[in-house]
Amino acid sequence: MEKIGLYVHIPFCKKKCFYCDFVAYPNLENRIDSYFDNLYKEIDLYQKNISVDIDSIYIGGGTPSYVDYKYIEKLVEKLKNFKVKNLKEFTIESNPNSLTLDKLKKYRELGIDRISLGVQSFDDKVLKNVGRDHSKEIILNDIKNIRKVGFKNLSLDMILNLPGGDFNVVKKDLELIKEIKPEHISYYSLILEKGSYFYTLYKKRKLKLMDDDLERGIFLYIEKQLKDLGLFRYEISNFSKKGFESYHNKKYWSEGGYLALGLGASGFLSNIRYSNVRNFIKYENLINSGKFPIETKEFISKSEREKEYIIFKLRECEGINLKEFEEIFGYSLLNKYSKIVDKYYNLGFFNIGKSLSFTHKGFDLSNEFYLEII
Ligand SMILES: C[S@@+](CC[C@H](N)C(=O)[O-])C[C@H]1O[C@@H](n2cnc3c(N)ncnc32)[C@H](O)[C@@H]1O
Ligand code: SF4
Repeated sequence: MEKIGLYVHIPFCKKKCFYCDFVAYPNLENRIDSYFDNLYKEIDLYQKNISVDIDSIYIGGGTPSYVDYKYIEKLVEKLKNFKVKNLKEFTIESNPNSLTLDKLKKYRELGIDRISLGVQSFDDKVLKNVGRDHSKEIILNDIKNIRKVGFKNLSLDMILNLPGGDFNVVKKDLELIKEIKPEHISYYSLILEKGSYFYTLYKKRKLKLMDDDLERGIFLYIEKQLKDLGLFRYEISNFSKKGFESYHNKKYWSEGGYLALGLGASGFLSNIRYSNVRNFIKYENLINSGKFPIETKEFISKSEREKEYIIFKLRECEGINLKEFEEIFGYSLLNKYSKIVDKYYNLGFFNIGKSLSFTHKGFDLSNEFYLEII
């Protein structure tokens, strides 16, 4: 049986960051208890109805490290009733200022082997500008504790182009990254999400950001510096030491399925893409009437799957293995898409060998290719 990934969403945060539009709510402490009760019931529902082999778990959010340890302990106990032998990766997303030594030790005891820490920047001014509730000092102290309890796989989330995050800030951030020696880094470019506070500011012309050329230039600098630190870019926004590429995240970018549980979570199983409801009451009502809390469901046909495969695989630096493509879909990618591939190859978007992969230019301008292939 194919092994799948499991994502569990914890929609609580201490504070809402100004750039964020995830299903993540502050000031809802009074909902945490009932939310977890419902989440446990959702797990029971899946365990009664489907049989899956799981080899990676990702507890994400929101801020899973924000809630009391007892909820995560019971959650993991319940998850172990799925077939979860030989887990390859078990991550929990965390925010600085919500981790204690005791919590971290307990996470280790539960079998969690990877911490994804939301840093965004180490600059106190930038952190304040984006509504984070932690300082550089707190981040560094948390990282010390993460290492102290023995985590060997630490990933940092960083964002480029935050207000105040100029080239000098990036250089200083990279100096600290050099000292911290994380195994993995996600370096995202700020996305102005429609539901975020920053989007409103931007529409009112009250948010000053870098222009695209400067941002691209800084990103190339980041890529070069991280490479010198042994952190290689393996996906459009992700860097890691060799062997520390995220096993779980690669499932989102490849054809392997994943089950998703919790408010607003999205999964992909047996060619069906689905999203759970985003409203607590709806979530509770559906689960308590014995129904899956699914809001939207879409069957993905073979031809759609093929396009998604191309798009997701091209996000990875190694690109599409042409032999593997032929084995999955039954024909040659270069034959079927010869016109469009030739066009973009001639424009300098692609490397072609055993794989088809983007060049730097291809990564930068990938949307042009994607728009044409969809
Ligand atoms: C949804 S958060 C959850 C983890 C945790 N609460 C945190 O803040 O790190 C995961 C990551 O998504 C990234 N992110 C969220 N909103 C973003 C945006 N609008 N643009 C770019 N990256 C974003 C941040 O780097 C964040 O660490
Ligand atoms: S970035 Fe993380 S901490 Fe901030 S609101 Fe989003 S999920 Fe919560």
